Amino acid sequence: MCGIVGYIGHRNSIPILIEGLKRLEYRGYDSAGLGIIRENACTVIKQEGKVSQLEDKIEKEKISSPLGIAHTRWATHGVPNEINAHPHVNSSGKLCLVHNGIIENYAVLKIGLQKQGYEFYSETDTEVLVKLIDTFLKMKNNLFDAVRFALNKVEGTYGIAVTSADEPDKIVVAKKGSPLVIGIGDDENFIASDVNALIAHTSQVVYLEDGEIAAVYNNKFEAKTIEDEEIEKEIQQVAFDIEDISKGEFPHFMLKEIMEQPGSVKNSFRGRLLFEEGSSKLGGLQGYEDRISQSRRIIICACGTSWHAALVAEYMIEQFARIPVEVEYASEFRYRNPVLTPEDTCIFISQSGETADTLAAMKEAKRRGALVLGVCNVVGSSIARESEAGVYIHAGPEIGVASTKAFTSQLVVLALITVLIARRRHMSIIDGQNILRELDLIPGKIAEILQQNDKIKEIAQNFINAKNFLYLGRGYNFPVALEGALKLKEISYIHAEGYPAAEMKHGPIALIDNNMPSVFITPKDSVYEKVISNIEEVKARNGKILAIACTSDDKIDSLVDYAIKIPDTMRIFMPLLTVIPLQLLAYHIAVGKGLNVDQPRNLAKSVTVE
Ligand code: M6R
Repeated sequence: MCGIVGYIGHRNSIPILIEGLKRLEYRGYDSAGLGIIRENACTVIKQEGKVSQLEDKIEKEKISSPLGIAHTRWATHGVPNEINAHPHVNSSGKLCLVHNGIIENYAVLKIGLQKQGYEFYSETDTEVLVKLIDTFLKMKNNLFDAVRFALNKVEGTYGIAVTSADEPDKIVVAKKGSPLVIGIGDDENFIASDVNALIAHTSQVVYLEDGEIAAVYNNKFEAKTIEDEEIEKEIQQVAFDIEDISKGEFPHFMLKEIMEQPGSVKNSFRGRLLFEEGSSKLGGLQGYEDRISQSRRIIICACGTSWHAALVAEYMIEQFARIPVEVEYASEFRYRNPVLTPEDTCIFISQSGETADTLAAMKEAKRRGALVLGVCNVVGSSIARESEAGVYIHAGPEIGVASTKAFTSQLVVLALITVLIARRRHMSIIDGQNILRELDLIPGKIAEILQQNDKIKEIAQNFINAKNFLYLGRGYNFPVALEGALKLKEISYIHAEGYPAAEMKHGPIALIDNNMPSVFITPKDSVYEKVISNIEEVKARNGKILAIACTSDDKIDSLVDYAIKIPDTMRIFMPLLTVIPLQLLAYHIAVGKGLNVDQPRNLAKSVTVE
């Protein structure tokens, strides 16, 4: 949530900051601003709305500077308007701060500052922080130490960048709970909340850890802990390039990412299938295989789409590895009193690796002695670094706010973890081999479904004016029903609910009439006939029905209004196929409604606040 970018070097910072903000806009897009240092003063320009509106405003100003910081906001404290937008400044206007996160004790700090005579112009917690730094700057006369001392008084989370017109040779950055990365250039350096913002300029990066602070100059950086301990930071190489974060020929990132799935799914299992042994090779779990497969219980925590992947994993692990699995919303897990022992394995799934609730839940599980594993997409993210062991899903950068390719890659990795555990327990080599062989075919099967894009677009036009939707599936496809409903809600703002199909008659059936479409996920499995009965029940009440069914199912067409066909596969992999038409359906309905699918209202890609 919120994106930070900064530049110090020999070029004009403004185009670099604007370009960086555009790449970070998926993190928040209700207001934006930048602060540059020129002529011994700080110039701040802010704007409610999108980064492009800020860009228009700046163009009129005709200014430039080789040092600047900028921010795109997702409001937490105070409405999205120009006053609350970042950067925030001290009373002299010389100290300038951008912030991602929440200062939890801001109210207490504010009262203390008001007693000292400070006045406040905004409703934000960030303005409190800049004024707190100001109090230490007056005492220390040194920006780095002033920031460090102030951060020792702060409770909450932050990724910050601070500049002072009196020290125009540096940007001071610090991190706790919100990501902060330094990009190393040639006589120029960059800072950002995400490598996406700086990959156009450098692929050499340094990730700050929680409790670390750094002064970034044009030709070097110096890092410490906020307790003033010296630290050595390693420079790392980013594994993707600018192409991976561009839309290319696609109108939206979401469509690009849906279409990329044959490749992204393949990348998730590439080099990880041990056909001969009927097992998987997951380097990140090496040395932990016994402990995981001997677990008394597996608990999987996540949020949103990643939580839906966790629900699918519950079916996978219990079916094949026969270890009891519990799936928890990370936000609930962290605040209850979970019973955990060292015999438990906790898996935390997160695309971004920065979701605040998931990260906090992980820390809690670690504190209680459980084995803590991460399943993340973003390399070097907080959850990946905090976990004891883990697996990257290698889906590639996901920019669209609605998660698509990360979900399918999460399912692949969770299936590989399942096979790894199951082969150490009860699964035969033949069963393991059959699963791997089928997984190898999945990218081709996804590609077949994607070829129906035009047909799905046509079907979607019939639902553009719907106000409510029901998504129904059973077994492995119940979590897919939840995911289909979430996709639709997020980007089309149509109310949608996912249910296990059999639950329909326990309440939701009351909603059915000819204005309430239902999406049934009906692969040919052991409960097929039962789901068909549910379809009949909806038909009897004049409900419109769209079915996601197997190509081999020739009965379904006569029963439903619309059918989208998918190839057959093993039950464990069905979600990898059934979710694809649902992603495309949500996409085309939202586009048909004229909505911005990549930046839906009120949402942000990476939820780094509670
Ligand atoms: O980055 P994470 O996987 O931890 O994110 C979790 C959720 O915030 C995320 O899946 C969210 O629900 C997406 N917008 C779903 O499309």
